[in-house]
Amino acid sequence: MPSKSLLLLLLSSLLFIWLIVGADSVQSNLQPHWSDDESHFNRTLSNILVPRVVGSQGHQQVRNYLIQTLSDLGFKTDVDEFKQRVPIFGDLTFTNVLGCINPQAKNFLALSCHYDSKYFPNDPGFVGATDSAVPCAILLNTAKTLNSYLTAQFQNRTDLGLMLIFFDGEEAFKDWTNSDSVYGSRHLATKLARSRTGPSVGGQTPRTIDRIEVLVLLDLIGAPNPKFSSFYENTHALHRSLVEIEQRLRSSGQLEGNNNMFLNRPSGGFVDDDHRPFLEENVPILHLIATPFPDVWHTPRDNAANLHWPSIRNFNRIFRLFVYEYVRLHKQPVNLRYYRA
Ligand SMILES: *[C@@H]1O[C@H](CO)[C@@H](O)[C@H](O)[C@H]1NC(C)=O
Ligand SMILES: *[C@@H]1O[C@H](CO)[C@@H](O)[C@H](O)[C@H]1NC(C)=O
Ligand SMILES: [Zn+2]
Repeated sequence: MPSKSLLLLLLSSLLFIWLIVGADSVQSNLQPHWSDDESHFNRTLSNILVPRVVGSQGHQQVRNYLIQTLSDLGFKTDVDEFKQRVPIFGDLTFTNVLGCINPQAKNFLALSCHYDSKYFPNDPGFVGATDSAVPCAILLNTAKTLNSYLTAQFQNRTDLGLMLIFFDGEEAFKDWTNSDSVYGSRHLATKLARSRTGPSVGGQTPRTIDRIEVLVLLDLIGAPNPKFSSFYENTHALHRSLVEIEQRLRSSGQLEGNNNMFLNRPSGGFVDDDHRPFLEENVPILHLIATPFPDVWHTPRDNAANLHWPSIRNFNRIFRLFVYEYVRLHKQPVNLRYYRA
C-alpha cells in the first residue's frame, strides 16, 4: 500500500473517531479485510426478489424468510403486526420484521429498509429490485459478513446493540399521500414512542424510540451511478464518514469502477420515506437513497436484469465498513438529536 493512501486512511479514521466519539480514546487500528460473501448476497436477493405486495403469498414468504434468516444469524427477532384499512384492498395485515443483537443495550444503531413491493394493477410481476429488494439483501449481507465480529462484540457490551428493521407497507396502494404510504413505519414509530424499555437514564426508563441513536434507511439501491447526498445536518458527520470510507477503499483498490457514490454535500431537499415518522419523533436519520432516483423506478424494468453489480458490490463494501466502525468506535451514548427531550 503506497504511503499516501496509508496516510489518508490514518487521517480519515482519526477524523471519524473524532467526529463520532469525540477527541478522546483515539486509536487507529487498520480495519480487517471483510470478505464479500457474494454468493450469500445472491442467494438472499433471489429469495426476496419476488412480487411481494402486502397480503400476497410472495409477501408472506419473504416475511417468513426475513424472520428465519435473522434468527439464523443470531438476532432476537420480533414482529410488529397490525391490521389497517387501505385504498383498493380494504383491510390488510402488515408485519414489520425486527431483529436485534444485544437487546439489553442502552442504545441502538438501527439499519432499515422496506420489504413490501408496490402494487401495480397492470404489472403483477413487479419485483422492485432496487425498491427495495437489494437494500434488504444488503442489510442481511452486512449482518452475515460481520456476524462473527458482532457476536463477539455484543457478548459483553452494554453501550450499544444492533437493530435491523424491515418495514412493511412503505408503498402507496393508490396515490402517495401522508396516509397512503409508510404504513409500517408509522405504526412502529408510534409503538416505540409509547413504550418505555431499557436501562434507566436519570432515574427514568427511556422511551424505546429514544434508544435509537440513528436510524439508517436504505432505499432505491442497485442501479448504475447512484449518488447519495447528506439529508440531515445532525447526521452529516456520519454521512461524511461514508464519503471517507469510499475514498479509502477506492484508493486502496477495493472498489470497482470510478463512480463516487457518496457526495460530501447537502441534498438540499427532503425525500419522503419510511424515516418520516421517526424523524417526527426526534430520531436522527441517515437517509441513504439514490437521488436522482434510478431510471427504472416504479417501472417493470426495476428487475434483476437491470441491476448494476459494481454499484451493489461497492455499496456493500462501504456500508459494511461503516457499520463495523460505528460498532468498534462506539464507547458512550452518541446524541445527535435535534432537540433534547
Ligand atoms: C451474483 O449474481 C450476479 C448477477 O447474476 C453475478 O454476476 C455474480 O457473478 C454472482 N456472484 C456469485 C458469487 O455467484
Ligand atoms: C466482560 O465485562 C466484564 C465487566 O465489564 C469484565 O469483567 C469481563 O472480563 C468481560 N469479559 C470479556 C470476555 O470480555
Ligand atoms: Zn417504491
